Amino acid sequence: MKLGVNIDHVATIRQARGTLYPDIVEAARLAESGGADFITVHLREDRRHIVDADIPILQQAVRTHLNLEIAATDEMLDIALAVAPKKVCLVPERRQELTTEGGLDVSGQLSRIRNFCAPLQAAKISVSLFVEPSAEQIEAAAVAGAAAVELHTGAYAKSGDSRPLVVAARAAAAAGLAVHAGHGLHVDNIAAVACLPEVVELNIGHALIARALFVGLEAAVREMVTAIAVV
Ligand code: PXP
Repeated sequence: MKLGVNIDHVATIRQARGTLYPDIVEAARLAESGGADFITVHLREDRRHIVDADIPILQQAVRTHLNLEIAATDEMLDIALAVAPKKVCLVPERRQELTTEGGLDVSGQLSRIRNFCAPLQAAKISVSLFVEPSAEQIEAAAVAGAAAVELHTGAYAKSGDSRPLVVAARAAAAAGLAVHAGHGLHVDNIAAVACLPEVVELNIGHALIARALFVGLEAAVREMVTAIAVV
């Protein structure tokens, strides 16, 4: 089980005042020291946290690797191809949303997503699609040629019901997709996701950055690594 630490909200604090601090490279390094297997950032179309200049800097600075979350737009495709991170995760985006509130509708725009994945895969970037734990979306992700799905765990985080994730993780693995999961996860709800045998990667951000306020980022990540390991 690999842990990706999403450092977007370190940049949220920076952007709130337009300062140079807190330094996202330092955040990435501390997350790695705490046991992060990779660093995740979401370059949103409105640049509310991570901005364009952060991406090549992080790509250069991280000791593990970078997972870049983007919407499926021409602008983001150009950025991803220029930086060539190891992994790209395609997410849906609505400007007014507080966070990524739902999964990508892959089945409803299959040929568009397939065409979007193709140049990324040709550039040896591994593509995952952030989807709701639904059979229809998982099937479509496999047809679109993605290497992985990241199952949206937001509904689980709200309801505590992990049964849709159990079924979806099995279906995704059976379809030949690597299974990732993320959104709304924290040390107290991680167990039901970390125990799914098909899930090989977790992406966690908000709860880790919040916890870091009290114990520091390195310790917050270490706590999460321990919580995952004891499952
Ligand atoms: N995975 C994806 C695809 C996301 O968009 C996000 C949020 O940006 C996360 C994981 C992390 O969610 P959280 O910040 O709630 O841990």
